Amino acid sequence: MLEHGGHEIELQTLYTSVKNAFREAGLPTPDLDARLLVTETLGVSTAQLIANPRRKIAPDLARELHEKAKARLAGQSIGRILGRRAFWSLDLRVSPHTLEPRPETETVVELALAALTEIAPPVLVADLGVGTGAILLSILSERLDARGVGVDVSELALRQAARNAERHNLADRTLFVQSDFGAALAPVFDLVVSNPPYIATADIEQLDATVRDYDPRLALDGGIDGLDCYRTVFRQAGSMLRKNGRLIVEIDPRAHDIVVDEAARHGLIHLASADDLSGRPRAVSLGAPRS
Ligand SMILES: C[S@@+](CC[C@H](N)C(=O)[O-])C[C@H]1O[C@@H](n2cnc3c(N)ncnc32)[C@H](O)[C@@H]1O
Repeated sequence: MLEHGGHEIELQTLYTSVKNAFREAGLPTPDLDARLLVTETLGVSTAQLIANPRRKIAPDLARELHEKAKARLAGQSIGRILGRRAFWSLDLRVSPHTLEPRPETETVVELALAALTEIAPPVLVADLGVGTGAILLSILSERLDARGVGVDVSELALRQAARNAERHNLADRTLFVQSDFGAALAPVFDLVVSNPPYIATADIEQLDATVRDYDPRLALDGGIDGLDCYRTVFRQAGSMLRKNGRLIVEIDPRAHDIVVDEAARHGLIHLASADDLSGRPRAVSLGAPRS
């Protein structure tokens, strides 16, 4: 990549050098990645990039961009490098202690909002393994009558979720609790959502480096068969859901039938499944066990 030798350098030259380096390295979306890094790091809009390509950039900013581009080439995602990620309609801050929210997790939000149309307000929602708060905060941003509890075993993830709630003016409708999934909850919830860790331990090493080396292990590891956390959450369902309450979980599409069978073993009723944008089953909606 371009060395600038301590001199001011033109915006267009910087942008082109980052884009070319990303293309040559075979990154999947080099142009988009370069544009995001350049606009966010240099504080310019995409429109300025086009309208004012000869604008001069100070050496310290150019150096910062260079370091971030190197991190991308070393395998970090743009979201991790910038410390933020767009999810649903929210701009979420991520930290080394939180999973970077994925677009496919929006399937859980869609299924949750559909389920909430059948529940009389006010509604109480819990998100088990809340991470950045992606699922819970998206639901609350759409349903102004809902309140929610975000649960995580990681105190540092909880802090990040609470900060994201503040940033989106949702702090007064949220509470964050450290717990082993639903262990600390009472049976008062209309809806429980969860995107639990579901990668089988032995498969973690085969993951893309962007995930394996940067997402927290605690957010990925689902035990020997990847199903440990589902078993825990399903076992807890009866002691956190109200009568007619719903449990909606994200799944690995390949594990759809196994997860539904496991849920049935715990008395949960399979109500619906939803596909992600690649047409694979990504979330299942389950009815509270009949007592
Ligand atoms: C796959 S991440 C999901 C994060 C976020 N909900 C999302 O969808 O982006 C799983 C989360 O579960 C949390 N977690 C792992 N084990 C847990 C446990 N025993 N109890 C509660 N949370 C747990 C992790 O810290 C992590 O934040």
